[in-house]
This record gives sequence, C-alpha cells and structure tokens, in this order.
Amino acid sequence: MSAFEHRSQPEWVAMEEWISGTVVHPDPALDQAIRTAQDAGMPPIEVAPNSGKLLELLVRIRGARRVLEIGTLAGFSTLFMARALPEDGRLVTIEFKAEHAAVARKNLDDAGVGTRVDLRVGAALDVLPTLEGGEPFDLVFIDADKQNNSNYLDWAARLGRPGTVVVLDNTVWEGAPLHPEMDPVNAPAIRDSLELLGQDPRFDATVLQTVGSKGWDGFALAVLR
Ligand code: DHB
Ligand code: MG
Repeated sequence: MSAFEHRSQPEWVAMEEWISGTVVHPDPALDQAIRTAQDAGMPPIEVAPNSGKLLELLVRIRGARRVLEIGTLAGFSTLFMARALPEDGRLVTIEFKAEHAAVARKNLDDAGVGTRVDLRVGAALDVLPTLEGGEPFDLVFIDADKQNNSNYLDWAARLGRPGTVVVLDNTVWEGAPLHPEMDPVNAPAIRDSLELLGQDPRFDATVLQTVGSKGWDGFALAVLR
C-alpha cells in the first residue's frame, strides 16, 4: 500500500473544507445559493467553493467586463463571477430549467448583483445564437450538459475574441475520458471536447485535475488565440 493511499476522498473533502474556511470564506449569499438549491431538490453539483473563487479571480485577472456562463443552476458560480465584475460589467448566464432559473434569480438579486446579471432561460444552443453581434465576451464558463461541450466551446470561440478566457468544468469526471465505458454518453463527449481544445487552433489550453467534494474531476482552462 502506498503511503498516500489513505489520503483519499474523506481527506480531500476535509482539506477542501479547511481551505474554504481558511482562505475562501464563503458568505451568507453563497450559503443561500447552496441551501436554496438543496431545498429545491437540485443535484448538489455546483462548483466547490475553492473553484468558485478561482472563477472570481479569473474574472479579475482578465479584467473581464463581459462574462458568459452556460449552466446557472442556483447561481453559486454566477455569484462569484458577478461579484468580480466592475459596476458597468455584465454577465449573461443561461439556464435550461425555469425552476432553477427562478431560484438563481432570487439568489442573485438578494446578493445585490442582480442588475449585473442577464439570466436567460432555455436550451443554450437556442440562446447562444441570439448573443451574436453583441460585444465579445471576455470570459466564458461552461458547466452544462456534457454532450454539448464541443458545441459550447465552438460558441465560446465565436462569441469571444483573442484573449478571451474559457473554462470548461468536469473534464476529468473520475477518469471517464480514458474509460468511455464508465459513462457511454458523457465520457466520449468530454474526451472529444478535450481533443478539440488540443487541436483547434483557436484555443490554447490545459486541464487541471482536482480532488475534493466533487470527487476526482478537473477543469479545462483555455485562452482564445
Ligand atoms: C454533474 C454535472 C456537473 O456540472 C458537475 O460539476 C458534477 C456532476 C452531473 O451532471 O452529474
Ligand atoms: Mg460542473
């Protein structure tokens, strides 16, 4: 047995909780997003707090004024990113389910960032074409149905500009890209989207693996050339 073998899921979660409490400091607005998601019966699949904080920091680092999010859920990740925007910044977030969007709308309004957030309800592939012709997005966060990852990456490239940051969630998915039989629908789609990031000249990308409350997962981080 490796000396590190015991350092698995429970320890990853304990470490994540310690990091969140020590460094990230989630506040009542973020707690409300978690609680209202639970109360509404949403799956507990929002980003971990330390990943949400990374999204906030990326918005700041990029100096983003226009942010696009695909997959709102109860608005947990949305809150992090909206808070990082300047007063005149705007975040467009797309949610498939009207019930989820209603919960997110209230969470964002209660947190005082509602005026910065344009929440669209519908299938992202229907909503994204309506965003064409607007100001390009500076940062795009994709966290929705994995089957459409590659389509969403294509839209991110079309709606961005050189220098736009693209973050794609759930790109390790317990190792599914190497073991497509684990999840015959999502695994090949995730793998295809990573191959796209590696081959499509519009992207310069990497993937970071993560462990913690979301298990063994990770996210792709890319910049548009
Ligand atoms: C699932 C979706 C997510 O976006 C995530 O971060 C974790 C799990 C899911 O659909 O199971
Ligand atoms: Mg996700």
